[in-house]
Order: sequence, then C-alpha cells, then structure tokens
Amino acid sequence: MPVSGPAVVEVAHLTVAFGERAVLRGVDARVGSGEVVAVMGANGSGKSTLVRAVLGLIPADAGQVRLFDTPLRRFRQWHRLGYVPQRLGAGSGVPATVAEVVAAGLLARRGLLRPYGRGRQAAVAGALAAVGLADRADDPVATLSGGQQQRTLIARALAGGPELLVLDEPTAGVDAASQEAFAAAVGGFVDGGGTVLVVLHEAGPLRRLLTRALVVADGRVVHDGAVPQDAVGYDHVHPHGPPNGTELGR
Ligand SMILES: Nc1ncnc2c1ncn2[C@@H]1O[C@H](COP(=O)(O)OP(=O)(O)O)[C@@H](O)[C@H]1O
Ligand SMILES: [Mg+2]
Repeated sequence: MPVSGPAVVEVAHLTVAFGERAVLRGVDARVGSGEVVAVMGANGSGKSTLVRAVLGLIPADAGQVRLFDTPLRRFRQWHRLGYVPQRLGAGSGVPATVAEVVAAGLLARRGLLRPYGRGRQAAVAGALAAVGLADRADDPVATLSGGQQQRTLIARALAGGPELLVLDEPTAGVDAASQEAFAAAVGGFVDGGGTVLVVLHEAGPLRRLLTRALVVADGRVVHDGAVPQDAVGYDHVHPHGPPNGTELGR
C-alpha cells in the first residue's frame, strides 16, 4: 500500500442534514495525494451526500472540509478537480456529440486554452483515447451504450487535466467491457500522479487500484482501511450489523 502523500481532501466532524434529518453525522476522512479511496456502503447510507458536501455542492451543517489544504469556502481552483456524478441526466434529447460533451469539461480551463485551438482538440482527443472512445468522437452521445456514455463523462472529467477525480458509482449498471476500459483509464490517471475518491457498490475491476476503503453506514464512517471483499451494507453479506475489521480485509 503506497504511503499517502499530502492531504488532497480532509473532512472533519462533517454533519449534513436535510430538514430535521441528519444524513451525515460527524464524518472524519482524509484522502492523501496519490491515493485511490473507495467510499462504500448501502444505498441511502450517505455516500453521495459525502461526496457532494466535499465538492461544496451541498452545505455542511457542521464540521470542516479542506481541498488541497484550503478551506472549502476559500477554495477556487476547481480546475484541479474532475467530477462524475452518480448518473447521466436521463432522456436528454440534445444531440451533442461525444467530443462536444468532453470539450464541455474544459470550460473550467477557460483562459488557459483557446476555445477552438489545438490545445483543446488535443485534450479532448487524449481524454477520449484514455477511455477507449477515440473512434466515437463525432457520434451523438445518445447512440452510445450506458457504459460508453459513462466513459464519455469520465473523459470529460479527465480532459481538464485534474489532480483529483471524484466519481460517484461510475460502474453501476455498466457493461463489463466499459468497466475494464474505465479501470484502465483510472489506472493511467493514477500512474500520472492523480488522486481518486470513488463511490463504489463493490470494488469490481477497480480493486487492484484501490489503496483504501471508507465504509459508510447510516451517516457515519464505520470502517477506514482494507477494501471489503464483497459489496457492503446488504443483509445477505453482513447479517449481523455493520462491517468490522474481522469481516473485512483481503
Ligand atoms: N437533497 C436531499 N434532500 C433530502 N434528502 C436527501 C437529499 N439527498 C439525499 N437525501 C437522503 O439522504 C440519505 C443519503 O442519501 P445519499 O447520500 O444519496 O446515499 P447513498 O449515496 O449512500 O445511496 C438518503 O436517505 C436520501 O434519501
Ligand atoms: Mg449515491
């Protein structure tokens, strides 16, 4: 297991409530530079809420988030992050091409790349090649399989040249070929020094890349360490309550 570098994400005592209901309850977490950290847990345990609070997409009720050693409220370097949310917006009739969707990921780098310049085209082409979709650049996104659409979103996140990739269930409902292509893309990103925070239902093809897993149950981190063997949080896997160190491990 690689030694974790300087903190890229730091979460301390994070509490998020929707109305009266606390969905995250005092979460502490850290992701060091170069780590690939999985967030696992049952549906509704608070995984997406954690990721969205880390990205400042929903407000925290208590606690602190730091990105690249900067408090979230002062953080402005969004080009250092790439984010793929849980699901592609369903049923969009917009006939955007694959290349257009990926180019949209470069908006955060406005000023660094000219809109129609070579640098932008090269960034789009490189990101599409990384996810195995170079040959689909000019096709409407709607003609792609669900797995290929998901890879398009990952290419969009990669195109901006981020240091941290945040992915929410990127392989859910995705075919095996897309899962392998996705794992290869993440592997390349990590080999280049990238850091990854990824919500996963089960480790799947990313297992070989994961350095650590956080298991969330009912708004708390109940495990921080070895990657669980199976999907966590389901009664048939852990019938006697939340996972602990003896049930986990490789
Ligand atoms: N915007 C919201 N408003 C109200 N409740 C929410 C909202 N987002 C999530 N929740 C609730 O918070 C809990 C955790 O949701 P979520 O973080 O999406 O879980 P997970 O990603 O682990 O499946 C769920 O009970 C969900 O219904
Ligand atoms: Mg979720």
